[in-house]
Amino acid sequence: MTRTLTSPRPRRRLRAISLATLTAVVLAGGVAATTAQAAGSTLQAAAAESGRYFGTAIAANKLSESAYTTIANREFNMVTAENEMKIDATEPNQNQFNYTNGDRIVSWARSNGKQVRGHTLAWHSQQPGWMQNMSGSALRSAMLNHVTQVATHYRGQIHSWDVVNEAFQDGSSGARRDSNLQRTGNDWIEAAFRAARAADPNAKLCYNDYNTDDWSHAKTQAVYNLVRDFKARGVPIDCVGLQSHFNAQSPVPSNYQTTISSFAALGVDVQITELDIEGSGTAQADNYRRVVQACLAVSRCTGISVWGVRDTDSWRASGTPLLFDGSGNKKAAYTSTLNALNGGGTGNPDPGTGCTVTVSRANEWSDRFNVSLAVSGSSTWRVSIQTQGGQTLQNSWNATVSGTSGTLTATPNGSGNNFGITLYKNGNNNNPTATCTVP
Ligand code: G3I
Repeated sequence: MTRTLTSPRPRRRLRAISLATLTAVVLAGGVAATTAQAAGSTLQAAAAESGRYFGTAIAANKLSESAYTTIANREFNMVTAENEMKIDATEPNQNQFNYTNGDRIVSWARSNGKQVRGHTLAWHSQQPGWMQNMSGSALRSAMLNHVTQVATHYRGQIHSWDVVNEAFQDGSSGARRDSNLQRTGNDWIEAAFRAARAADPNAKLCYNDYNTDDWSHAKTQAVYNLVRDFKARGVPIDCVGLQSHFNAQSPVPSNYQTTISSFAALGVDVQITELDIEGSGTAQADNYRRVVQACLAVSRCTGISVWGVRDTDSWRASGTPLLFDGSGNKKAAYTSTLNALNGGGTGNPDPGTGCTVTVSRANEWSDRFNVSLAVSGSSTWRVSIQTQGGQTLQNSWNATVSGTSGTLTATPNGSGNNFGITLYKNGNNNNPTATCTVP
């Protein structure tokens, strides 16, 4: 399968025509009927309007269930194997590979004109017993062999691979997760990416994680720093996957769009890879809308996948987190998602803020570094910049900036929406975080 999806394109101008106008045109002569149909009556069609994909996780053992495949085939054009390409599934015994169920999913996808996300080549979890018991250079070699063998088997058939999954700790440390893979050396992630590139040069290579949706979280910043470092050193990486599993304890953050745009500013695609949002009714529908609108607001946010078809297919079934109920009926969340993909839906993607700020690292010296900040959504704004411990402000331009450490506040000074600051590191080389509000 070749990679045919390209960068999202600007929504066609016709999409801005009001429903009333469109209806009038259709009624007047039927000339616009095909345009009306092209307005996306399914998730995949609506996402395709802006050049994006809309996908789902698929379980091989459900492909014989027609109620399941009917929805999956109609609504989605990207498929992720929920468990079938993981290490325990594909290499149950060392050097004995089993692609039966992974191949079933790829075959179903291809015969129905869909593309495939590969999930996942290197992960601390769902390792087969033999790998769990390995360490050191033997484990490093086994991991690289696994990446090479699996990526080679699926070469040319995978749109994007989750090369490495969930390598960072939760909490405030921003540290790598302790695992047998991590203990083989800090460079295990880049080694995995290099092996994947060599095995399948045409697949996009993603780093995928959860709890990386809130821009102010240490884990998000740690992944951002990893990607920035990889881009700076030429380690092959093409995309970041935000799993985006949301519930009451982990809600859709108000700065979600900032997270997406900040990763994109590093020069990688952003894919929402495992979306599910626990809840029901209007609240759930509204959260789905916010996620879709945040993605659509960033051109390099190239697609969204939900983590299952019906609520009953979900790993969190009791939280009813998906777009179809157990009987296959479309939920309110489905309608709000479809409307948002079609460019409709009310509300701001980052409700309550009215603007978005993107933070990107610029020049760097031994004692200080520059940070570029770009505001979108409003020409009046207030940006709160949270510096990291010890850092102090040395300089600023194109905005009025108050404060010298901790939280800095920036407001427009007549120079537009792009401004910058220089921070003294004082021993802390991490990026500041920023949030935007319209006063
Ligand atoms: O296949 C066996 C089946 O034979 C047995 O009867 C059944 C009951 O014991 O278990 C089945 O295996 C389960 C498998 O899902 C398939 O249903 C495993 O025990 C169970 O651990 C596994 O859970 C998966 C989980 O990853 C494992 O980490 C979920 O389906 C899958 O949705 C979930 O997906 C992860 C992503 O890979 C990474 N991000 C988080 C996401 C949610 O946890």
